[in-house]
Parts: sequence; C-alpha cells; structure tokens
Amino acid sequence: MAAFRFTATFLLLSLLLIANKAKSQSFIGINYGQVADNLPAPASTAKLLQSTSIQKVRLYGSDPAIIKALANTGIGIVIATANGDIPALASDPNFAKNWVNANVVAYYPSSQIILVNVGNEVIMSGDNNLISQLLPAMQNVKNALDAASLGDKVKVSTVHSMTLLKQSEPPSSGIFDPGYGDVLKGLLAFNNATGSPFAVNPYPYFAYRSDPRPETLAFCLFQQNPGRFDANTKINYMNMFDAQVDAVRSALDAMGFKNVEIVVAETGWPYKGDSDEVGASIENAKAYNGNLIAHLRSMAGTPLMPGKSVDTYLFALYDENLKPGPTSERSFGLFKSDGLTMTYDVGLSKSSSQTPVSPSTAKAPVTPSTEPKKAAWCVPKAGVSDAELQASLDYACGHGIDCSPIQPGGACFEPNTLAAHTAYAMNLYYQTSGQNPSSCDFSQTATVSSNNPSTNGCNFPGGSS
Ligand SMILES: *[C@@H]1O[C@H](CO)[C@@H](O)[C@H](O)[C@H]1NC(C)=O
Repeated sequence: MAAFRFTATFLLLSLLLIANKAKSQSFIGINYGQVADNLPAPASTAKLLQSTSIQKVRLYGSDPAIIKALANTGIGIVIATANGDIPALASDPNFAKNWVNANVVAYYPSSQIILVNVGNEVIMSGDNNLISQLLPAMQNVKNALDAASLGDKVKVSTVHSMTLLKQSEPPSSGIFDPGYGDVLKGLLAFNNATGSPFAVNPYPYFAYRSDPRPETLAFCLFQQNPGRFDANTKINYMNMFDAQVDAVRSALDAMGFKNVEIVVAETGWPYKGDSDEVGASIENAKAYNGNLIAHLRSMAGTPLMPGKSVDTYLFALYDENLKPGPTSERSFGLFKSDGLTMTYDVGLSKSSSQTPVSPSTAKAPVTPSTEPKKAAWCVPKAGVSDAELQASLDYACGHGIDCSPIQPGGACFEPNTLAAHTAYAMNLYYQTSGQNPSSCDFSQTATVSSNNPSTNGCNFPGGSS
C-alpha cells in the first residue's frame, strides 16, 4: 500500500480542498518572538503575513496589539501564558478564568485563537515547583475555556524541548528520559483526553552542530545523501527532520499515547553566526527552510506518519535583536524588520506557493543547461528497494514538479507500480533541471538511461529522439 501513498495523499488533499477550508488542514505556521526593539507595527506584520502562505502564528505571550491586528485575517493564532503565571493559574481557578477572559474571550472569534500554550519548555527549567504546577495550570485554563464554551475550539498545551528525549537514534528507538516519566505521563494523558497536540522543538541545526560532517549537513538540509537506515523498521531516513519527528512519535507510542498528535512548535536555521558557529549561513538557512517547506507541502508526512504533514511553525518571523547569546540567536528571522522583505527567499509568498520551489538548493547547483537536450532519461537503478523508491518519489514530487500524471486518471497512472511512478517523477525532476547529472542521483538510486521508458499514452519527456 505504501506504493500508492502519494496518490492517496493527493486524492485526500483534493477532497479536503473541495470539502472546505474550515477544517483547517493548514500546516505552515511561524513563530513571532518579540525580544526586539525594531519590530514593524502590528498592522504591517498582519499585512505581511497575509501576503504569504503562512496560516498560523505562534506568539510567546498574548500581546493584544498583534492579536487585534490579526483579527479577520483568517490567520490562526497560538498564544501563551508566561512561565511566571503558572503558579497562580494552578492554584487559583479565578485567575485562570480572568486570564482566559482577558486574553481569549475578549478577541474570539474575530481573532482566531486556536491554542493556548501554558508556559514554554517548563520541564527543562529544572524548577520542580513550577514543573509540578504545570498540569494543574493547564487543567484550570482548560476548565476556564470550557466555561466560556470555547473548549472545543481553543486547545491547551505546552511546548517541550527535544532534550526530553533520552534517545532519538535510530528513530524507532526514541524514548523520553525516564526521569520525567510521571510528569510527562500526566501531561500526555491531558493531551490525549483533550485532543490537544504534543508540541516540541526539533532543530536539525543543533544536530549538525554536534556532528559537523558534510553528510550530516546534507541529511539536515534535505539534500541528496545516502540516508540513515533504521534497522528495526527497515526505513532509510532521508532527512533529519523526519528522523527527529519520528523519534518523538516512537517515544509517545512507547508510553502508550499513539493518538496524541505532534506539532512542531519551532524549527529553523540561523543565517548568520559567530566564527565558531558552524553551519550558520544564508545558504544553509535558505536550503533548510526552503526544502522543509517543500517537504511539508508535499504532504508526504514522515515514514512513521505518512500522508499528512506535521503542523510546523517555522522559527522565526523576524530577528530578535535583543536576545542574548551568540550571534545565531539573533539571526533566525525569515523577514527583515521593515516588515516587507525576506532575509532570503524560501517561497512563502502567496504567488510562489503554487509554483515550484526551485531545487537549486540541492548539493550541486541545478542550472538549466543551454545545450540542446540529449536523448536521455533518468530512471531508478535495478535492485532499489521499495523504501528507497518511495523516498525518491516523495522527494521529486515534493520539489516542484507536476506529479498529477501519475495520480489516478493521469496519463501515466498505468502501469500503477511504485517503480513506474518513481521513474516518471525522477525523470521529470531531471528534465526540469535541464538534464543536470547531479539531479539524477536520488541518493544513488537513479541512473541516466538512453532507453526511452515512455509507454503507450504516457510520454516521458526528455529525449530528442
Ligand atoms: C486516550 O484517550 C482515549 C479516548 O479517550 C482512551 O480510550 C485511551 O485509554 C487514552 N489512552 C491513554 C494511554 O490514556
């Protein structure tokens, strides 16, 4: 069945688009941190966001100016209570009620608040008093939302750091640190019972920093690489994002919470760093964010959660120029503080959301060749596993080519096999790059052939003969 995942995904996506947009299937959000003194006016930010395909914004607090500015924009808003409010929220239901009235009820529904995060990375604070009050605080906020008849519409969660995981490699062996076991169990039971997501912050950037080899960089940037094989599941992971998210999936499953959904509350890559901050560059930041966005848009999901992209909030909207620490901490912004220009283009503007994300971020530059096209096609090598074929199919279809001919009803749907569909996608990706040899690699699963694989009714573009 895995063979037809992409097909099924596209069908599902089309059905959802037809059904209606209210059942929010949006999956690209952005973090709006405000530790800065040069941020654009809230109205400019609202306008900027509306010019993009970003559908949700996560705030670290509940700034009324930005919540109001986002009214009637259709943009979903995640707000948060400060860690410092947790003791009062936990001990005093009235405090929780007042907080919800002042920060949610006052703006809803014109401002589409969708989630309240109670605190941020509380477990990592090491403050046992605060940690023990987190769940009661979440419960009181939930009760207050229920009392305001918003319990179904506005969920309650909290955000966790990846350091909660004791082990994350291979992804199937992901487990949480047993030291947090009881606390986590309570929080997860809350997520499970209330249908709220488990929110976590995976940063492939930090994985690369701790293992700065070229193959790790390619793995982290969704570029061509040999992949990392998980012997338990026989899955060859092709990128670090999927590996980290699936490690969280495994850890949740191991605790019995198979139904708790994961939300990526933060992920990003700095475009600038100090001289000792390896990997922080415009080129890498653009590759990570651009390829991540393409990956999410492909709706491929992760190997353990195929077919639906994980709701993901990019970090971050703007640089936060007052953040302490190394230069990278102040260099995650996708947009400049003029509220207009992108720091680097990752294909988020509305007009570009429908057009292909250029595969030019792949390891070798994919520049259209000016030479006349040779009679050459890109096809899978013999002996390539289904998992590798599927990964290559996902990659190609997630990188801007039109895979509709291999959907049901398309001219190239038959023969309906994984190998044939992958051949079609690989070849189109290769031709789109102007027959650049580096774009017929697919982690060494593909090869250039002079035999035209076109069949009756399905034309594989590419040959001059
Ligand atoms: C999760 O919630 C469902 C539905 O309420 C329940 O049946 C199940 O036992 C819960 N799982 C755990 C591990 O608590």
